[in-house]
Amino acid sequence: MALVAEVARAWLTLAADRENRKLAQSTFESQTQAYALVKKRFEVGMANELDLKRAQVPLKTSKASRITLAQLMQPEHANNLGNVHGGWIMKLVDEAGALACMRHAQKRVVTVAVDSLVFREPIKIGHLVTLNAEVTYTGRTSLEAEVQVIAENPITGERTHTNTAYLVYVALDDNAKPTSVPPLVAETEEDVERMKQAEARQKRRISQK
Ligand SMILES: CC(C)(COP(=O)(O)OP(=O)(O)OC[C@H]1O[C@@H](n2cnc3c(N)ncnc32)[C@H](O)[C@@H]1OP(=O)(O)O)[C@@H](O)C(=O)NCCC(=O)NCCS
Repeated sequence: MALVAEVARAWLTLAADRENRKLAQSTFESQTQAYALVKKRFEVGMANELDLKRAQVPLKTSKASRITLAQLMQPEHANNLGNVHGGWIMKLVDEAGALACMRHAQKRVVTVAVDSLVFREPIKIGHLVTLNAEVTYTGRTSLEAEVQVIAENPITGERTHTNTAYLVYVALDDNAKPTSVPPLVAETEEDVERMKQAEARQKRRISQK
């Protein structure tokens, strides 16, 4: 009996996952089609800029929030071993994540949590640091950003992925109070999977508060 219940539960979970994926995909597709239609109407003068902006609002994918920051590491960024100071990278990580979240929310944001940051390799002075950030989760007022850090020797072109960080921000209104953010829309099955993983991370953070 227990085995039957277990199999039924597994089957239902799988079916729910498939439905969620289908729903995410079809939501994205119908929003894309609606936007294309309004854009065409705008091009022939049958819709105004406000209509176009309104149609654009739901297209809040991770890809749309993606930002890149790049900075050459200079002597003033060094620690006393002559490599880049970790605190400097943390500042850039926080800025990149905040920019992706601001691009998504179109509101200012503050950092509320940073997951553990592991520096796998030292970054050298004279190297180019590139940070790629995008939103991976939205709650009611909170957003999670994933930030990838890549260090590049600009002479040899050798690139090292030094770390990936996850940070949570909260959007604020004009009175500095938490305010709602537009939901993240999944564009692909990978997005659905990443959003599920991000949701699990956020659940864990809240349970550890
Ligand atoms: C961010 C801040 C305004 C939130 O205020 P608050 O009273 O905790 O607000 P709430 O309890 O409503 O939480 C707001 C959101 O943050 C999330 N949150 C709060 N603490 C969190 C934590 N430790 N980890 C992850 N998310 C957290 C909540 O789950 C909620 O998300 P939701 O609306 O999507 O469900 C407040 O904590 C603050 O001002 N913190 C300092 C921010 C700061 O100065 N950052 C550093 C410099 S930028």
